[in-house]
Amino acid sequence: MVGKYQTEFEIYLNKCVDKLEWVSQRNRNGIPYYVLEDGKYNNMDNAYTNTTTGDVSWWTNGFFAGILWQLYNYTREEKYREWARIQEVKLDRCFDIFQGINHDVGFMWLHTSVANYHMTQDPKAKVRAVHAANILAGRFNLKGNFIRAWGGIDNHCTGLAIIDCLMNLSLLYWATEETGDPRFEQIARAHADMTLEQFIREDGSVHHIVKFNAATGEIIEAERGQGYEVGSSWTRGQGWAIYGFVNSFLHTKDKRYLEASKKVADYFINHLPDSHLAPIDFKQPAEDVFEDNSATCIAICGLLELGKALNEEKADGNKYMEAAEEMLKALCEHRLCLDSTSEALVERCAVAYHFDKHITTLIYADYFLLEALLKVQNQELKMW
Ligand code: GLY
Repeated sequence: MVGKYQTEFEIYLNKCVDKLEWVSQRNRNGIPYYVLEDGKYNNMDNAYTNTTTGDVSWWTNGFFAGILWQLYNYTREEKYREWARIQEVKLDRCFDIFQGINHDVGFMWLHTSVANYHMTQDPKAKVRAVHAANILAGRFNLKGNFIRAWGGIDNHCTGLAIIDCLMNLSLLYWATEETGDPRFEQIARAHADMTLEQFIREDGSVHHIVKFNAATGEIIEAERGQGYEVGSSWTRGQGWAIYGFVNSFLHTKDKRYLEASKKVADYFINHLPDSHLAPIDFKQPAEDVFEDNSATCIAICGLLELGKALNEEKADGNKYMEAAEEMLKALCEHRLCLDSTSEALVERCAVAYHFDKHITTLIYADYFLLEALLKVQNQELKMW
């Protein structure tokens, strides 16, 4: 039954909002990514270093602003709007440095400038967001019909496309909707169509990385990426696909994207363990206890959006919403830190299966948890 845990979720939402108030207050002049050993968030607001210890251009640097805009939208407390704007201004340095920027301009500027423009109609925010959209569009490879994921001013990674990019397409759809210039959407659709053909496997799972010959557009191979091995199913990537394809459907009304989201969602639900919490990879060895609850949170948001879209199309979306609600309940009951021992909310996350630094909290897990708790109350600010 959809809505079975509504009251519990409202209590969890308000507890999370209470915690996020002091966490945001303390971190409002930094850019948090993960918590350090003392339980406090690190700060990514450093010079460009090409490492994950401090890098203003890092792909996750829009998520704290996303949390702040969601809090502003939910509470209407002015301080959140002001703090979110501090984050947006910090990211201007990325445009100047330029070489740290990649396809993740979507993640970074959807949650800063697009959200700001949506809430306040600030013309400077619109300029920033259109500038970011132009950078994303400029990464399109005409021969392979893909948006180049990584690398910038050199010849590294010229042929790599990744599943995560589906989420960044929302910046291109927004740019066409806002400016009336169809080029942005044309590129988004071309990339989404390529993803339909080259990333989704027969069983509904998806590759993380597909490598092209950037000069000819021919496929070279699929790569392991952040998952367990080549051919395995990195759960965060499956989550990006569920949510990313339904977003493309919502912007274009092309049913092929809705079907794709559903196919990956069926795979995800059928492979989820009894805990309702995502492992790092659905094909990791059975004895592994590794979880990635950032994947759990992203998939919950994608499944809720998919279920709603299917219901609006008079198809049966309740199965997906119910699965999302069971996952959200399990997450809230077993993987939520609501006290002050850590500034993060969601526990047991993972950057990648083979990543040697054991970062277990991730700002985007907290962002998607908040979005999910707001979604089930119909209170979220639409970011994608
Ligand atoms: N978009 C990068 C990741 O999901 O790790």
